[in-house]
Amino acid sequence: MTKLTKRSWAEPFKIKVVEPLRMTTREYRDEALREAGYNTFLLHSRDVYIDLLTDSGTNAMSDNQWAGMMMGDEAYAGSENFYHLEMQMQRYYGYKYLVPTHQGRGAEHLISRILIKPGDFVPGNMYFTTTRLHQELAGGTFIDVIIDEAHQPESLHPFKGNIDIQKLADAIKRVGAEHISYVTVAATVNMAGGQPISMQNLREIRKLTQQHGIKVVLDATRAIENAWFIKQREPEFAQKSIPEILHEMCSYTDAATMSGKKDLLVNIGGFLALNDFDIFEEARNLVVVYEGLHTYGGLAGRDMEAMARGMDEAVQEDHIRARIGQVEYVGERLLSIGVPIVQPIGGHAVFLDAKRFLPQIQQVEFPAQTLAAELYLESGVRTMERGIVSAGRDAKTGEHHFPKLELVRLTFPRRVYTQAHCDVVTEAVEAVYDRRESIKGMRMSYEPKYLRFFQARFDRM
Ligand code: F0G
Repeated sequence: MTKLTKRSWAEPFKIKVVEPLRMTTREYRDEALREAGYNTFLLHSRDVYIDLLTDSGTNAMSDNQWAGMMMGDEAYAGSENFYHLEMQMQRYYGYKYLVPTHQGRGAEHLISRILIKPGDFVPGNMYFTTTRLHQELAGGTFIDVIIDEAHQPESLHPFKGNIDIQKLADAIKRVGAEHISYVTVAATVNMAGGQPISMQNLREIRKLTQQHGIKVVLDATRAIENAWFIKQREPEFAQKSIPEILHEMCSYTDAATMSGKKDLLVNIGGFLALNDFDIFEEARNLVVVYEGLHTYGGLAGRDMEAMARGMDEAVQEDHIRARIGQVEYVGERLLSIGVPIVQPIGGHAVFLDAKRFLPQIQQVEFPAQTLAAELYLESGVRTMERGIVSAGRDAKTGEHHFPKLELVRLTFPRRVYTQAHCDVVTEAVEAVYDRRESIKGMRMSYEPKYLRFFQARFDRM
C-alpha cells in the first residue's frame, strides 16, 4: 500500500446552488462552430460545456453577496450602496474619490477623455484591447514600454508585467513630458499572460514620472491577484497582508480604472477612483452624460452592494490561494505533458503558446484563433484567442498589428469549476496536441471596424 505524501489544500467554500452543464456531440459542435464563423465569442453559451472564455463577470457570488443583492437601495440619487462601495474602495484601494461605472471600459472612457489631448502619447505595460481603443478614440497613441521578457513566452522572469524604466525614460525624452497624458500601469498584465508587476518597479515608475510631473493611472482590474504574487515573490512583502500590499501599490498611482467583474467577484460593475479633486469633478460631470448619475454610474444599487461585499472576500488569502492555485494546477499538468504554455503561469489563466503548438500555421492564418476553434470542437471547452486578431490594426496605417505573442487563453472564472473540470480541460488540450500536425489555419471572412476579435468570422483553409 502506498502512502499519500502531502496534505492538499481545497477550495475554501462549499457549493450551495448548482447550474447543470450540457455536453454535446462532436458533430453538433462542428455545426455550431461553422455557424459561429469559427469565433468562440459567437458561440451560444448553451452549446459550451466548460466555459473558459473569460474570468470577467463569470464568477460565482457568495451567499453574503447574494444577501447584499436584496439590500439594494434603488434610489435614483444617493443610494446607500454607493456610500458603502465608496467606503470599501477607500479602505482597500486608498483613493479619495469614487465614480462608479457600468464596467471597466466605462472608467477607461472617462479618464481617456479627461486626460488625453489629441496628439498625446500614453506609455504603458502592454496594451489591453479596450484600454488602448479608448486612448486612441481620445486622440492618443499608446506606447508599449513593458520589459522585453513579457513578449517571450518561455522567459521565467518573476515579474513579466514590469515596465522597462529605460524604455519609459526614452519615450519621455523622445516625445516630451508635456505630450504624455499619463502612464498606464496594468496589474496584472492580461495580454502578457496574467503576469504581475513588482512593487519595486512601481516605486521606480513613480520616481521617474514624478520628476517629470507625469500622472500614473493603474488598471486595478486584477490588482489583488497582483498583490498575491508580490507577497510570494518579493521577500520584503512575505509577511505583509494583501490589503497592506494593495494599499502600497495604489499609493504610487494617481487614479485607477477598475473592472469589478474580475477580482471583485461580481457579474457586472466597475469604477474610476481618483485622488485629484479637479479630475474627479470632471469625471463626475462626464459620467452623468455617458453612464448615469454620479452615485450609480450605470449600476443598480444591488450591483454596487455586491461589489462592495466582494472586496472583503477578494482579499482573503485562502480565497486567492485557491483561485491562483487552480490556474497553476492546470498549467503544471499541461507542462508535464509537454504542451507549450506561457511561463510563469499567470494569475487568471493558462495561456497556450499557439506559435509553438501549431508552428506550421503562419500568423496571418490565425494560429491562436484556429487552436481555440479546435479545442471547442474536440471537447466543448470554450477559450479565447489573444493574438493577431485581438491585436487589431494600426489606427494610422491600417496594417495588422503583429504581436509577438500568439496565445489561446484558458481563463478560469472564480469559484465556478472543480478540479475534475480542470482534469477534463487538460485532457482536451492533450487530445488536440496529439493531432496538432494535421491542423490547418483559417482566413478572415468578416472583419468589424473596432475590437474585431469579438465579432470577426473565419473560414477553414
Ligand atoms: N482592463 C483589463 C486588464 C481587462 O482584463 C479588462 C477586461 C478591462 C480592462 C475592461 O473591463 O470588460 O469590465 O469593460 N477584460 C475581459 C477579459 C473582457 O476577458 O479579459 P470591462
